[in-house]
Amino acid sequence: MPHDIETRFLCLADFEPAARELLPHAVYEFIAAGAGEEITKRDNEAAFDRIRLRQRVLRDVTRLDTGITLFGQSLPHPIMLAPIAYQRLVHPEGEVAAARGAGVAEAVFTLGTTATAAIEDCVAVSRSPVWFLLYWQSDRGFNGELVTRMAALGAKAISVTVDMPTPGDRRRQFRAGFKIPDSLATPYFKDRNTGLLKVGTAQRRAMPTWADIAWLRSLTTLPLILKGILDPDDAEQAIGIGADAIAVSNHGSRNLDTLPATIDALPAIAERVAGRIPIILDGGVRRGTDVLKAIALGASAVMIGRPYVYALATGGAEGVAHCITLLRRDFEVAMALTGRARVGEIDQSVIW
Ligand code: FNR
Repeated sequence: MPHDIETRFLCLADFEPAARELLPHAVYEFIAAGAGEEITKRDNEAAFDRIRLRQRVLRDVTRLDTGITLFGQSLPHPIMLAPIAYQRLVHPEGEVAAARGAGVAEAVFTLGTTATAAIEDCVAVSRSPVWFLLYWQSDRGFNGELVTRMAALGAKAISVTVDMPTPGDRRRQFRAGFKIPDSLATPYFKDRNTGLLKVGTAQRRAMPTWADIAWLRSLTTLPLILKGILDPDDAEQAIGIGADAIAVSNHGSRNLDTLPATIDALPAIAERVAGRIPIILDGGVRRGTDVLKAIALGASAVMIGRPYVYALATGGAEGVAHCITLLRRDFEVAMALTGRARVGEIDQSVIW
């Protein structure tokens, strides 16, 4: 990371052009790509832009508390890192560097089944919780073993991707000829080539159904999060099956174009969930005001995806830590200027 990190990267958007310059074209396209015409990808951010905030004045915001409680655990702020595949494509230390950066910035890090590093190595370098995200693979028992092993390896929660029965039409990635190098080790795939990800084809993936989720639930006492919920009925079913949380996500708009922006999908889901379980939101979160808006509309926490991968490419662990810190500081500014001293004070009345 260059020494001018503080002056060069002032907001999350600053990392993308820097990463684009550094990364091979096909790798950049793999990260940046959204599905189809990228209507939803643009909307994930634009939908936040359409929401206006209500300023409140003369309240005591000298001491701001960004802390939240999730699954009975205190976290110093509500910003987390989403699972992102194949991070050694952008940095030699991959997920280990990202986890170290998350630890410095006191953020939860989610390691995916698509990781190019072992969870023990991420846990060892991060003072913050590390979660494991399961991508279902065709060998049912193998999924069960992965989930069962994770608690002993230090994972503090299990997230399961539920929104990807097939890879989406990521045209930019296909046009750029992106391929996962055979040399890239992926310790949590039983067989990367036949089991799960066939980039560039319209092939179906092995996918869990509700019955499989119920089975996973019975295998672990760790908090279970279903990632990729966009419909209130699915949220209801997630609660019924014993999920501890849901992640409102459209997979960074990488799967189905013209899905709603996640911030637009959130209110109806939050209304149905009615506080029974926490909701995490991702997709297009780039500014402190986005974090504030997500919480106001019913989220307990947010995840960021692409921005921290661009930061990892640009500055390794230090870049990731700086990226999270920028967002946290920006969130604090948004809290102060809307007169909210604690996260619990952020409700719908903050929206104009
Ligand atoms: C992802 N995402 C993702 N999700 C998941 O459940 N498992 C995975 O392996 C991946 N891999 C992945 C790779 C890349 C390159 C991207 C950009 C995204 C989706 C990710 O967890 C998250 O939902 C979005 O990235 C959030 O949106 P933003 O912040 O990127 O707009």
